[in-house]
Amino acid sequence: MVKVALIGAGYIGQTHISALKQVKNVQIVAIVDNLEDRGIKIAESLNAKYYKNIDELLKETDADCIDVCVPTFAHPETVIKAANAGKHVLCEKPIALTLQDADEMIKAVKANNVKAMNGLVLRFWPEYVKIKEIIESDFYGEPIHAFCERLAVTPDWQVGGWDKNEKFSGGAAVDLHIHDLDLLIWLFGRPEIVKAQGSIAPDNPKGGFSHIFTTAQFKNSKSGFAEGGWDFKGAFPFTMALRILCEKAAVEWIFRAGKNIEERSQASNIKIYNTDGSVETIEVSQSDAFFNEISYFINCIEENKPIEKATFEDGRASLEFALAAIKSAKEQSVIKL
Ligand SMILES: NC(=O)c1ccc[n+]([C@@H]2O[C@H](COP(=O)([O-])OP(=O)(O)OC[C@H]3O[C@@H](n4cnc5c(N)ncnc54)[C@H](O)[C@@H]3O)[C@@H](O)[C@H]2O)c1
Repeated sequence: MVKVALIGAGYIGQTHISALKQVKNVQIVAIVDNLEDRGIKIAESLNAKYYKNIDELLKETDADCIDVCVPTFAHPETVIKAANAGKHVLCEKPIALTLQDADEMIKAVKANNVKAMNGLVLRFWPEYVKIKEIIESDFYGEPIHAFCERLAVTPDWQVGGWDKNEKFSGGAAVDLHIHDLDLLIWLFGRPEIVKAQGSIAPDNPKGGFSHIFTTAQFKNSKSGFAEGGWDFKGAFPFTMALRILCEKAAVEWIFRAGKNIEERSQASNIKIYNTDGSVETIEVSQSDAFFNEISYFINCIEENKPIEKATFEDGRASLEFALAAIKSAKEQSVIKL
């Protein structure tokens, strides 16, 4: 049995709780949230203990691991305290807002010999996993370039609107776009050259880039383009897309549904457009990406295996890519990594 304490019972914290409830051999022993009413209500529903902050939790908890779902600006302090108390950590993406903080977090988990995973959930998303398998099978030849997209209406749930201030969230480039930047790294490795253009929503000048277009050059002449933005309004549906041109086919997946990722269980097929004119439709068996991610983390703890997927180092690399894109867009420059 793996005992979990979850800190930050907001939007993604509650998504993690739903997933944790489906994972075998897990007990949620504690909920930490500085919003007392929310924390107590959720803790009671789970028969778990409530704590107002991480210091109170760490004084007495017997949890094996801490699931860190607080806002991004609070990730470094929370993760470092958890690691120093000998707890394994699952930390939501983005790992942090600066590379210095990410390095301190990596140092703390190494010094305390605890397991650490970053919530880079696309690495557990059935369609993205399937497309990576297809590309790596080499059946369609080498991948040449990739396009990815993530578009959403402006989020409206965050406590205190921390996401609307670049200082606390990094803006859409760090908070949302990082998923696709991580995806490009997962497919092609660390980028060598990054160029980006961004725009700032007129109704939120402090929010950083609310929409960003990033292009990158990778080893072996591979190139990638990612578009991400959260300044859409009204009924605009949450949109994710990935299109990869390989030597013998183009592989494409487009998903549009709902307001946010809550309708993620809706299926949509992957299409493969072959050079001979035939079109294949690949059905992907559905499983919840957050369940897959959390099951993997819990299993690594249970069986004392190293975390090899979505490591803190992967989180750092995706942050490095996002910060390079922001720098390029702000300075109108080309960034060499
Ligand atoms: N993987 C994904 O697709 C995904 C989706 C949404 C959010 N996220 C990430 O999850 C994190 C949280 O985002 P959210 O949208 O759930 O935010 P949120 O505002 O909905 O929830 C945050 C919760 O943490 C609590 N909190 C804040 N500071 C705290 C502290 N120091 N100690 C204890 N509790 C504290 C708040 O009261 C709130 O309940 C962010 O890093 C965000 O980028 C990831």
